[in-house]
Order: sequence, then C-alpha cells, then structure tokens
Amino acid sequence: MSIPTRVQLIDVGPRDGLQNEKSPVPAEVKIGLVHRLQDAGLQEIEVTSFVSPKWVPQMADNVDVMAGIERKAGVRYSVLTPNLQGYEAAVATRPDEIVVFGSASEAFSRKNINCSIAESIERFAPVVEAALAAGIRVRGAMSCTVGCPYEGEVAPQQVAYLAGLMKGIGVQRVDVADTIGVGTPRTVQRAIEAALQHYGLDEVSGHFHDTYGQALSNTLAALELGVWNYQSSVAGLGGCPYAKGATGNVATEDVVFMLHGMGIETGIDLDKLIDAGAYISDFLGRKPNSRTAVALLNKRAV
Ligand code: HMG
Ligand code: MG
Repeated sequence: MSIPTRVQLIDVGPRDGLQNEKSPVPAEVKIGLVHRLQDAGLQEIEVTSFVSPKWVPQMADNVDVMAGIERKAGVRYSVLTPNLQGYEAAVATRPDEIVVFGSASEAFSRKNINCSIAESIERFAPVVEAALAAGIRVRGAMSCTVGCPYEGEVAPQQVAYLAGLMKGIGVQRVDVADTIGVGTPRTVQRAIEAALQHYGLDEVSGHFHDTYGQALSNTLAALELGVWNYQSSVAGLGGCPYAKGATGNVATEDVVFMLHGMGIETGIDLDKLIDAGAYISDFLGRKPNSRTAVALLNKRAV
C-alpha cells in the first residue's frame, strides 16, 4: 500500500476540544473558532454535540453555535447525536453530517453514554435511518479501539465487532479512535485493520489522542495502511470528560506540518491555522498544545 498523496482532516477542536474545558467558552468564541478554521482551509469541522447538558454542560449552546456560523460552501459541518432526542434537536440546525458514537469496550460505553454496546446500536439505528432519509451523512465514532480507561487493553476483535454493528445499521464511515492515547503504531494498525474488515479504505478515519505522545507516529502508521482521513484538534485542545486523564487530540498544526513535509496535500494554510489556534489559546489563557504552533509563533515573534 502506498502512502496517500492527499489527506482530509476533520478539525474536532470546537467539539472534542472544547467539551472538556473547565471554564465556559461563550458561543461567539466557538463561532469565531469555526470561522477561523474554515478560513484556514478546513473542509470538515466537528462543531458541537447534541448530548445531555447535565452530562456535558460545555455543549449546551449547540443550537446557538450552529445558528451563528456563516457557512462556507464546500465545508462539511458535523455534530454528535447519541440518540433520537439529540438527532431531533440537531436536525433543526442543518448539519451536513451527524455522528453516532459507540465504544469498542463495554465499560466505556456505559460510562460515556449510559448503555451497553448492543443498546447503543439499538439507539443509533433510528437516528441513522432518519438522517439518511433526510439526506444527511452519517459517521460512526468508535471509542477505545486500542485501550479503555476501565478495561485496559482492547482486542482488535472488539473493534471488528463494533464496526460490523455500525455497518449493519447503515453508518457510512467510521472513526477508529484511540480515546486515551495509549496506542502505538502497531496496535493502532491492528485496530484499523479490524475496521477495514467491514469498511473500505475511503470510509475509515483515524482519531488519535496524544496522551502518551504517540499520535503523530500513529498517524504515520495509519498512512502506511493507506488511511487518508483523520481527525485532529486545533491547538491540541481537548479530551473526553468520561476518560479521566486523557488529553487532547493530536494538534491539527502538528499533523499539517508533518503531512506538508511529506509532500501530502491537505488544502490547509498552516499560517492561518496557527492564527486559529492562537485565537482560541489566547481566549483560554495558555499556549497552544502544539509543538508546531509554538515553534512558528516563536519564529513570528523574532
Ligand atoms: P441517559 O441519562 O441514559 O438518557 O443519558 P435518558 O434517555 O435516560 O434521559 C435522561 C435525561 O437526559 C432526560 O432529561 C432527557 O431529556 C435527557 P430529564 O428528564 O432528566 O431532564 N437527554 C438529553 N438531553 C439533551 N440531548 C440529548 C438527550 N438525551 C437524553 N441527546 C445520554 C444518555 C447519551 C444522553 C448521556 O449519557 C449523554 O449525554 N452522554 C454524553 C456523552 C458525551 O457527550 N461524551 C463525550 C463525547 S464522546 C467522545 O468524546 C469520544 C470521541 O471523541 C471519540 C474518542 O475520542 O473516543 C467521539
Ligand atoms: Mg475524542
């Protein structure tokens, strides 16, 4: 398998990133971030989630954020919907894609969405059906595909099992997520190969958290398998509130720097992306959690 010549990134910073912030981030700042990401050339942005505000208060402004975005042609805006209640609230905001999110580990499924894997699929099925009937695309996030904060190691068979269930209800493409960032290149490749038992190469994406500093290596390992869709988070924002200790996704800036260095096209303007990361980091009162961003910001300051 040859390495792809083009990669498509979904920036999940506004959702995966900001869902985990201790201090509230106003809707207008989230909207400002989405605008900067689309100006930087991101063609896919995961904007928010339609989950219980009691579980994730940071996403309670989902309707305002979706309503406030000035949409750019050619950009796909996605939102998370765990059940029909979430889907019905989401659909009114005109997402291009909805994301159902399951787990390859039973324990994480219960902690994150309060039901078993099998029950989650029963909840997702009518959501997927309704979305496809309405012409909305459907992605399936698969958490804990390498390791689980409650169960430890996760076998590739569990990933294949979940991917098969997702395929069975009509989910169009899946994300292989290393939620707690414990994957290393070979374990991540095995998780991806498990997903590839049910989905084509164009339908599988990598979603790597960088908790143990492995996310760029894991991205390269996935590239070696031919995977060309990835999720990353501007300024390395994020984490999951139900995966204690897990840090943010790999920083979009770092992934873009690596890909461009390898001659792989992304359609992203790194300078503008740095601006987007600086914007949200300034708001949060810290440096971007991206080595590339810090290096380039230091260079600008000289
Ligand atoms: P539940 O308590 O089992 O739901 O939660 P329920 O159906 O029994 O309803 C209980 C209450 O929640 C009711 O309200 C419902 O109205 C409300 P009450 O009568 O008590 O006032 N409710 C909702 N409200 C708003 N939107 C909804 C909704 N559904 C029910 N959609 C539920 C089940 C899934 C809702 C809950 O567990 C939840 O919201 N969990 C949040 C999960 C989450 O957002 N996690 C973070 C995102 S996943 C992630 O980060 C991983 C990912 O990045 C990939 C990776 O890295 O692994 C994607
Ligand atoms: Mg995540």
